Amino acid sequence: MKILIVGGGGREHALAWKIHQNREVSAIYAAPGNAGIAEIAECIPLQVSDIAGLSRLAREKGIDLTIVGPELPLSLGIVDEFEAQGLAVFGPCREAVAIESSKVFAKRLMKENNIPTASYEVFSDPQKAKEYVRHIGRPLVIKADGLAAGKGVVICQQPEEALKAIELIMVKQVFGQAGKQIIIEEYLSGEEASFLAFTDGQSIIPLASSQDHKTVYDGDRGPNTGGMGAYSPAPVISEQMQQKIMTKIMAPAIEGLARLGITYRGVLYAGLMIQDNEPMLLEFNARFGDPETQTIIRRLETDLVLVIQKVLQTRLHEVRLDWRQEASTCVVLASAGYPDSYQSGKEIIGLEEAARVDGVVLFHAGTTRQEGRLLTSGGRVLGVSALGETIAESISRAYAAVAKISFEGMHYRKDIGQRALSRSLPKSRAA
Ligand code: AMP
Ligand code: GLY
Repeated sequence: MKILIVGGGGREHALAWKIHQNREVSAIYAAPGNAGIAEIAECIPLQVSDIAGLSRLAREKGIDLTIVGPELPLSLGIVDEFEAQGLAVFGPCREAVAIESSKVFAKRLMKENNIPTASYEVFSDPQKAKEYVRHIGRPLVIKADGLAAGKGVVICQQPEEALKAIELIMVKQVFGQAGKQIIIEEYLSGEEASFLAFTDGQSIIPLASSQDHKTVYDGDRGPNTGGMGAYSPAPVISEQMQQKIMTKIMAPAIEGLARLGITYRGVLYAGLMIQDNEPMLLEFNARFGDPETQTIIRRLETDLVLVIQKVLQTRLHEVRLDWRQEASTCVVLASAGYPDSYQSGKEIIGLEEAARVDGVVLFHAGTTRQEGRLLTSGGRVLGVSALGETIAESISRAYAAVAKISFEGMHYRKDIGQRALSRSLPKSRAA
């Protein structure tokens, strides 16, 4: 069986690593992949947005299954295009991806289906948006409607910050068309968690819980990034909480989409704020999270290819996911300057030694090999993942490996997983 993975980050390396363990898989291709993926797959230098090129590649190589990592190709309709050509592909169709690519669509879906979320207003006129901000005068969150590479959300404690964000997004149009409409929503406090589930449009099966660390600096300070590290399980997601999330958020979303005539097939990712023991939905994503997937995949015992095939056959109800009891932590190593403009081309050393630390697997993100040397080529460079008997052990193993790695300007958070340590694990050890 031949598999194509679309993408080239830590998430895609983690997926490739897992798939590589399936004996029926004879070849893995990745587009564009990275230096780590290249050790177990053939990397093809195609952009993830080159849908025509990717479908040609899938036909030429006789690919049996394509798995799509990032949101961009999904939002461009890669799944619809592959399906039209009779190619098996894992991910939601373009209409379904609107839950991530249009925040206005997502909020309407939430409202129509009574999914708990922050109250909000939609604006397409910057003057009206500014008047509203002046009128409200409390902390607010401004969100560009469309995809903005994770930068389209601005938390505004003061009205002045909100006015500035409206000016940047709607008037200066720093995210282009993505900022034509904005959402202004109520600011929610609480504890964040990521909740991912496989769905074939009928059954929904949760993945192990996880928690991401979005901001660049320790103590949840600084600007948001794609994610600086994660851990799994997230103790805030007890078994009872998981039930609430399934009945109040995941099921109503899939059923709500079905009522609109949209079958959602793939991974549904809910970004949650847990407030007073109740889950509130911040956003949906239409894909595996990154770096969450780098921790979750380490704990998945069930064969991933089988699960994906069952999704495509609408037979997900036949699947049971088994999880390793160990905890998993992933620390992201980033380039100088990230999440703003960053440096690249820096030599990375120490990987062999780091990989020898018990329980550690290194997932590459922004790496490339040139004349035998491993160089940085992206903002997020590596994900250092570790399993451990306890979350504390997985954290200390991950950081023991991090200490062996270096490249010029390397930076990372020193407090990944600390929040989990401050809670005791629920007795049931819900996945
Ligand atoms: P989103 O892309 O909607 O997940 O937003 C990115 C990040 O902004 C989230 O992970 C939260 O940390 C934060 N955020 C989004 N919406 C809210 C909200 N209503 N209240 C507080 N924080 C939020
Ligand atoms: N880690 C956040 C995301 O994948 O969107």
